[in-house]
Amino acid sequence: MDVAGAGSSTPHHRLDQLKAFDQSKAGVKGLVDAGVTKLPPFFIRPPEDLAAADTLSHEPPGAHFRIPVIDLGDVAGDRSGAVAGVRQAAETVGFFQVVNHGIPVTVLEEALAAAREFHELAQEVKGEYYSRELLKKVKYGSNFDLYQSKYANWRDTLFCVMAPQPLDPQEVPSIIRDITMEYSRQVQVLGRVLFGLLSEALGLNTDHLESMDCAKGHSILFHYYPSCPEPELTMGTTRHSDPDFLTILLQDHIGGLQVLSHNGWVDVPPVPGALVVNIGDLLQLMSNDRFKSVEHRVLANHIGPRVSVACFFTLHLHPTTRLYGPIKELLSEDNPPVYRETSLKDFIAYYDNKGLDGNSALAHFMIPR
Ligand code: OGA
Ligand code: NI
Repeated sequence: MDVAGAGSSTPHHRLDQLKAFDQSKAGVKGLVDAGVTKLPPFFIRPPEDLAAADTLSHEPPGAHFRIPVIDLGDVAGDRSGAVAGVRQAAETVGFFQVVNHGIPVTVLEEALAAAREFHELAQEVKGEYYSRELLKKVKYGSNFDLYQSKYANWRDTLFCVMAPQPLDPQEVPSIIRDITMEYSRQVQVLGRVLFGLLSEALGLNTDHLESMDCAKGHSILFHYYPSCPEPELTMGTTRHSDPDFLTILLQDHIGGLQVLSHNGWVDVPPVPGALVVNIGDLLQLMSNDRFKSVEHRVLANHIGPRVSVACFFTLHLHPTTRLYGPIKELLSEDNPPVYRETSLKDFIAYYDNKGLDGNSALAHFMIPR
């Protein structure tokens, strides 16, 4: 008997569908391979979510808003232009793109190609890596918040915790092993450069953020957004801000990443050879709101797959007692702390448990006034 009499929309039925999807270990790619032409109901954005987004998507005519592109070619010489550019972006849009960043374009291309190859492996091979275990360093999956979120995203992800404890390359699927290790080395170097610029942008010593272990750990997420038969009904990634210090994102040529500005949703256009950088929640917290961890999302698309590689600078899975709060040097009587201190473990646990629900995790760590 259909207990609630409401057919496919009963919670009971929905949970069964989520479990079946999860147990397939085939992700969204599996649905596409099976030839779905209509989205399973659990992918469909609820009406209130659609309506809220619509009111935000009208840019006033003429207000052509862009994500700044910053040239890092001269950071070993005159850094003032780069520091000013990084400061301006970090305090406003929270996003910028970098060029002449030092990572060879061949490495970028190989990382995107290998990500695609991994996600297009035969199901029997790829399914071996499917997991929701919190402590696993290398895992493939779809919708980390499948059982919490209001609707599922049209995206699969291979997640690798690379540092501070060095990852044994043998744990990485062989098809993506060498380039993962290489990309990790390169992105770590770039991360140090960026934390140096960001420290200077805050008026601190160049090594300030690095000395607080901001560059010490990182995880790499290889995202795969299959072509979607009904893209207007769902999302590639629900609006969110990132649960880390800083994110360096490599996106392919397809586009779909958007950032929330006062003018509505703004595209982050693919720039060949460039990397997208954005401030994470933890850096907003440490800068006492001077830097902005800005919400962003990825649209689903008929055209696909779209591939991206996100590097999250954070100390995921690294047991540490260090507490992170607003940096003392930035505080004054006029600028009292907005946030309480938190361990990274508590922050990440709160973020993951909340899932992508359209609300910032930072609010939970605010000092009530
Ligand atoms: C993320 C993210 C954007 C993209 O991984 O947090 O926002 O383009 N990714 O895949
Ligand atoms: Ni993100």
